[in-house]
Amino acid sequence: MSSFPADRSFALQCDAADPLASFRERFVVDDPSLIYLDGNSLGMLPLTTADRIAGVVRREWGTGLVRSWAHWIELPGRAGDLLGGSLLGAAPGQVLVCDSTTVNLYKLARAALSARPGRRVIVTDDDNFPTDRYVLAGIAAELGAELRMIHTDIDGGVTPDAVRAAVDRSTALVSLSHVAYRSGALAAMAEITGIVHDVGALTLWDLCHSAGSVPVELDVCGADLAVGCTYKYLNAGPGAPAFLYVSRHLHDALRQPIQGWFGQRAQFQMGPDYDPKPGIGRFLTGTPDIAGTAAVEEGTRLLAEVGIARLREKGMRLTDYLIALADARLAPLGFVVASPRDPARRGSHVCLRHPEAWRIGQALIHEGVIGDYRTPDRLRLGPTPITTRYTDIWDAVAATQRILASKGYENFPAEPARVT
Ligand SMILES: Cc1ncc(COP(=O)(O)O)c(C=O)c1O
Repeated sequence: MSSFPADRSFALQCDAADPLASFRERFVVDDPSLIYLDGNSLGMLPLTTADRIAGVVRREWGTGLVRSWAHWIELPGRAGDLLGGSLLGAAPGQVLVCDSTTVNLYKLARAALSARPGRRVIVTDDDNFPTDRYVLAGIAAELGAELRMIHTDIDGGVTPDAVRAAVDRSTALVSLSHVAYRSGALAAMAEITGIVHDVGALTLWDLCHSAGSVPVELDVCGADLAVGCTYKYLNAGPGAPAFLYVSRHLHDALRQPIQGWFGQRAQFQMGPDYDPKPGIGRFLTGTPDIAGTAAVEEGTRLLAEVGIARLREKGMRLTDYLIALADARLAPLGFVVASPRDPARRGSHVCLRHPEAWRIGQALIHEGVIGDYRTPDRLRLGPTPITTRYTDIWDAVAATQRILASKGYENFPAEPARVT
């Protein structure tokens, strides 16, 4: 574990020397005193995105009207290629920006099951994000398949050995999160993909907490399928469309279950039968959200300008710093680090365990420090490399320490779900 000087002047020095510091100015910061450590839930608004959306609405829609479809039609693929090339390690023609993560997960998982006839097992883990588990359970019920749950340590994340023990020749699909939504544990994508391929099954990765926070090498890892959202580190805004990745070698073999007209080969011939486009285009469904997709393109462009290597380097330093300060100042007051300590094994957020995590989180919000809470007793703090300062980390830990020492959290009501 790294050690850092305990005083705030060290954080100030880090900010002064931070090569990414000026990127914060490219975002809307209406309240400079706010400490925002929840960019892993909803990223901040880039200034260019606000302008771009305004332009899409006022000029492209307002003035251009239906004529704008001539260029809008390209957007899901164009934004997908930018995202794939700059942040996901995907060569062009394999990523689309469309639909929600949940819908894309269904589309790809269902298509994967059809592509492995005779195999009746879907593997995931019990620490996977709820929507993933629910969608996979729904597909299993629909097909009379088995949903096999790996039991995962919620602080340590899913391991290659656990996957190896769970798969066999009856496995059609293994679907896992690359970065765990609670602990931030980073799964070994290349190794797990190899294990899954050894039994002839396909992989489907959820990249919601990875895209824009850790380097992802889908092509190099031989990943088959992936999905992810854009409203976290990609800063595309609430409900912005998600993305999907389908490895080129699977395009012809997969038939997606939502046979919409945007996936149709000669869409405007309005033909009688569904005939999917060749290539990635067949994974589109209906009319894309243009303002949202434009926001994905802008957010991705900004991260591409920084570069994922620099984002990752700062993300590891920020989370290392947070863990070191938590050990020094919060552990004596009952907080326990509930994320992997090796920075290479975690994404860009950290969980801290405390029986009063919910109320402490509420007290922090009251003091202008925004993190979030995750069951059963975790305070989740997500430094975002492009906007978070080292002083934000120091100040957030200092505020937490004050709230703990004074028991100020006792002024806040218990977690609603726990009120009986
Ligand atoms: C890992 C993961 N998967 C999926 C989702 C949500 O999917 P959707 O955008 O469809 O609501 C989230 C949302 O936080 C998530 O963290």
